[in-house]
Amino acid sequence: MNKPKVIVTRKWPAAVEARLQELYDVQLNTADIPMTADALKAALQTADALLPTVTDAITADILGVPNKRAKIIGNFGVGYNNIDIEAAKREGLVVTNTPHVLTDCTADIAMLLLLMSARRASEGDRLVRNGQWTGWRPTHLLGQKVTGKTLGLIGFGRIAQAMARKAHHGFGMKVIFTDPYPPSQEIIDGLQATQCANVEELLTDANFVSLHCPGGEATKHLINEQRLKLMRPSAHLINTARGDVVDSKALIKALKEHWIAGAGLDVFEGEPNIDPGFLELDNVALLPHLGSATEETRVAMGNRVLDNIAAFFAGQEPEDRVA
Ligand code: DGY
Repeated sequence: MNKPKVIVTRKWPAAVEARLQELYDVQLNTADIPMTADALKAALQTADALLPTVTDAITADILGVPNKRAKIIGNFGVGYNNIDIEAAKREGLVVTNTPHVLTDCTADIAMLLLLMSARRASEGDRLVRNGQWTGWRPTHLLGQKVTGKTLGLIGFGRIAQAMARKAHHGFGMKVIFTDPYPPSQEIIDGLQATQCANVEELLTDANFVSLHCPGGEATKHLINEQRLKLMRPSAHLINTARGDVVDSKALIKALKEHWIAGAGLDVFEGEPNIDPGFLELDNVALLPHLGSATEETRVAMGNRVLDNIAAFFAGQEPEDRVA
């Protein structure tokens, strides 16, 4: 029997590409150049499975291309707001994602940004590199203590819970959260966490606010000027979720005018094109979407995609089906 044809939109870790080559008639993207909309349309017409990632916009227009051969889209990423899910459903395409395997590494990056922002690590690094460090002194680069403070989590899914575990058990932090679909009481009690009545209450009470909600229209600019004004002047905002959850212009204003003390960002509106306003600020730590960027996790994400399409081609339900 002929092997199914699969097209991968970006370069994947070598170990997973080797598995793909063994199992499928695969078209890899060794040059790692993003595919155009036309190339993505052609891929849907010529392959049984398209394997895109979170930076490929799989729009209704692309999904609506006539004479599709593809039956499944195996997204490399837990977030799938890059795919028009309603259009995929209309077109009868199965869509899968890669949950679980990136939970801890993404929570680690959120914790890293929290610490960087609280302890002014980016500022310190720049100072040393620029030869501007004149030596230790009692009042130099004073940040804020993290241990024992209150961490507010907007969204209390897997990644937020992993961050809560690290923050609570490692740093003795008190955890508060909001989530329209909270986890079981057992999980909440295990972290001694408290559910806030609403986002406003959380923003008022937290020393550190970390965002863990999905991207997309429903959460666009959830953190806006009005809500930033509710945060404490000593508070920090951490975003490892999606850039468009935060109104960048409002955040830049909040940081510039010191309505809040700092921010740590791994994701940006319109990334990789970052609002230049962020680059002028000292009180923001900036990372290039590194949440899941460890060797182990990226291999595991690729393997998760392979498990999903293998199940599909075997006539079974893929474990991580989202459409
Ligand atoms: C995801 O998977 O959604 C992240 O943004 C990249 O790992």
